[in-house]
This record gives sequence, structure tokens and C-alpha cells, in this order.
Amino acid sequence: MKYNRLGKTDLNVSVVGIGTWQFGGEWGVDYTQSEANEILQTAKVAGINFIDTAECYGDHTSEKLIAETLQVDRDKWIVATKFGHHYHDRFDRSQLWTADDVRKQLEDSLRALNTDYIDLYQFHSGSDEVFDNAELWEMLQEQVTAGKIRHIGISIGSNANIYQTSRATEVGASAIQVVYNRLDRVPEEEVFPSCLEQDLGVLARVPLASGFLSGKYKVGTAFTDEKDVRSRHKAEQVQERLAEVERLQREEVPEGMDMATWALAWCLKHPAVSCVIPGCKNPEQVLQNAAAGLVEL
Ligand SMILES: NC(=O)c1ccc[n+]([C@@H]2O[C@H](COP(=O)([O-])OP(=O)(O)OC[C@H]3O[C@@H](n4cnc5c(N)ncnc54)[C@H](OP(=O)(O)O)[C@@H]3O)[C@@H](O)[C@H]2O)c1
Repeated sequence: MKYNRLGKTDLNVSVVGIGTWQFGGEWGVDYTQSEANEILQTAKVAGINFIDTAECYGDHTSEKLIAETLQVDRDKWIVATKFGHHYHDRFDRSQLWTADDVRKQLEDSLRALNTDYIDLYQFHSGSDEVFDNAELWEMLQEQVTAGKIRHIGISIGSNANIYQTSRATEVGASAIQVVYNRLDRVPEEEVFPSCLEQDLGVLARVPLASGFLSGKYKVGTAFTDEKDVRSRHKAEQVQERLAEVERLQREEVPEGMDMATWALAWCLKHPAVSCVIPGCKNPEQVLQNAAAGLVEL
């Protein structure tokens, strides 16, 4: 595994991290504590030290499943969670953005993760209107001073959101999380240059294009399980993306290389990207994804 400094922070993140939206139950599987432990333990052995979670992956469910792993070697893990949403039910959330609401969400996340501090606390894909709230950013700085947060991040909703990216340093944030993968290169236009200029860390989310860039789904695949978020994707767009994946598999993936490993290594070629955070459903996927940390394309 290779490691990168996350922007101007003192965090040395593995170039392959792990996304844990899956633990919240919106990818067709409900995880037990021992399944989550096994996935995270496999990640640790493979050299992965960065975990991305959120308040609304279940009602703090993902955070709670991560907590047990953090009880051993807490300081070896870099844990990123998020604020701004309240989970009601599968695919049903509301948003809460006042400084008071977020202060309470922070306490809820610390309790769920059973930790004293969060390494990276991220604005969870809110609008520009809720972003423009000086009181919110001041409150977050107070939490940094109090030691409950080490660094602040912004997970931008649209991958072209230069409004929030360009103001990151101003609001005290040191990392941007954004959708980036071989099917979606929009951040290369404005977001990445701004991140490089401000020395912000970049976390590439959805790096496998929701699993499509693993190459295992062929044109004609329909996602029919209502508990899997992909059943909510537009069917026509899914088919277009799968056709493009088949072309990439033929034309760009080196002979003999696993496509998921290739897709992650492809993201890591961009100098702005600090870390990719593929969601993993089992230990085998963790290992395939971690292999990208050693591949040079
Ligand atoms: N707004 C936000 O801040 C936001 C939004 C979205 C995601 N995120 C974060 O980003 C993370 C990653 O995004 P994502 O999970 O949406 O998409 P992703 O990482 O592109 O895809 C994840 C899916 O790909 C499949 N997969 C993973 N590794 C594989 C492998 N080696 N071989 C074959 N299939 C593999 C798994 O599904 P199957 O096996 O079922 O195909 C897995 O659920 C999330 O977990 C979350 O932490 C944040």
C-alpha cells in the first residue's frame, strides 16, 4: 500500500481507503457486526487506514458497525464522517444544517463511533445556500479547538461545484470529496485545479461508478432488488454506462488485470487525488481494491 499526505493536513492516508455506505443497508445487504469487523480487519491487514462513513448510512448504523474496530489502535485509523442529514428510513432522509443541529449530530456521531474525536468531519453534499453560514463554520472551528474534530472537509454534491471548492480554505476545510471515476471526469475541469492550488486533499468517491467499473455487469443487467440503491438509477443511463464499460474493458484495461483494480489505479493517476474510497461488500472486494495501491499504470 502507498500513502499520501491529505492536502495540507498531517493525515497520511492510504491511497486506497474504504467507503462504508454499504454498512447502512442501502446496497441490498444488512450487515452483522462480525461481517463488518471482518471487512475492516481485512482492510487493516492490506494497509488501508482511511474509512469514510456518514451520519445517514442508516441511523448512524454504519458508524456503529465501525466502532468496534476502532477500539483497537484508534490512532492508526483515519476516520471521516459527515453532517447535514437525518436518516428516517431506507432512501428517506431530511436535512439539518444549523450550527446547533450540527453540534448535536457531531455528538451523536462521536457516540456511535465510540471515539473522542473524528479525523475528518465533512459537510455532506449540501446546497450553496446552506454552505453560506458563517455560524456553522465558526462552530466547527470551535470543535477543532476542543479536539473533537481534527480537520474539516467538504463532500460536494455536484462534481462541478466550484462554488464550494473555491471557498474551502476560507471556511477552514482542508479536503474535498467528489465523484471521480473513468466514466465521470468532470472534476478534472475546475475542481481539481482549485484543489491543487489550495493544497486540499481529494477523496475520490464512487470510484467504481457504483460497481459498474468492476466489469462484472454486462449490458442488459437490471437492478431489481429494491433494497439496492442501483434499482433507483435511471434504466436507460445504466445501459449506456454498461456499454461504455464494455468498451473500456476491451480497449483500455491491460491484459490480465482485474478491472476494479485498474479502475481505482486509473483514478490515482491524477495528481490531485489523494485517496480513492471504494465501497466494499466483502473481504474479497477489499483485497482486490487494495491491490490498486501497488499498481502503476
Ligand atoms: N455524498 C457523499 O458524500 C457520498 C455519496 C456516495 C458515496 N459516498 C462514499 O463513497 C463510497 C464509495 O462510493 P459507492 O459505494 O457509492 O460506489 P463505488 O465505490 O463506485 O461502488 C461500490 C460497489 O462496487 C462493488 N464493488 C466494490 N469493489 C468491488 C470489486 N473489487 N469487484 C467487484 N465489485 C466491487 C460493490 O457492489 P456489488 O458487489 O453489489 O456490485 C460495491 O457496493 C461510499 O461507500 C461512501 O463512503 C459519499
